[in-house]
Amino acid sequence: MLTLNQVKKNSKILEFIKQTEKSLKASGYTEHGLDHSTLVAKRARKIAKDISLSEKEQELSAIAGFCHDMASFISRSEHHYFGSLLFHQVFQNDFSPSEISKIMRAISMHDRDEMEFSNPISAVLILADKSDVHRSRVLVKKMNRIKADIHDRVNFATTMSKLLVDKKKKRITLILKIDANFVPVMEYFEIFTKRMVYCRGAAKYLGYQFGLVINNFKLL
Ligand SMILES: [Fe+2]
Ligand SMILES: [Fe+2]
Repeated sequence: MLTLNQVKKNSKILEFIKQTEKSLKASGYTEHGLDHSTLVAKRARKIAKDISLSEKEQELSAIAGFCHDMASFISRSEHHYFGSLLFHQVFQNDFSPSEISKIMRAISMHDRDEMEFSNPISAVLILADKSDVHRSRVLVKKMNRIKADIHDRVNFATTMSKLLVDKKKKRITLILKIDANFVPVMEYFEIFTKRMVYCRGAAKYLGYQFGLVINNFKLL
């Protein structure tokens, strides 16, 4: 089995992520490149550790996190399926069948409407990915463009985003600070209800409740 550090050195993977960043930037999406991949990998490893998954599962979660969006340059709408297959093509000799299928399952699950969890790595990846909302993800820095796009507005309004795992209370809480002058909290929900439903389902599978705190208000 490879480690995340080894995966990060693979020139194909790095190129896929670079191409994804380029193609999504061209279509005006929020940031989906190396920064998002690195953050999701880091967050996935931390969640896996905090809920006491094995060291191997922590590594697999981090690897799935790093690679989850890398096929978006092929197709945005089907990037989860393509990403899963690309991972297999690149690394088929580097992981055991059980390790590689867990990563493939996690990547292919992360953007589907139906949530059917069959291993904790899939759930960890969803929590790590869907909680990444932040000002820095807005690529178009012109204020008039930001104001015109609700995704950009909501990301831009988020000045702090943190995921906390309380193992004793069995709660995973997303803590956000939103600049309410920039975007009403209601607008935030318009965009993020689906993400929160994903997070709640993923947390539930792991035996946790999902909580949401925005500007010190406990909303979930
Ligand atoms: Fe994705
Ligand atoms: Fe993502």
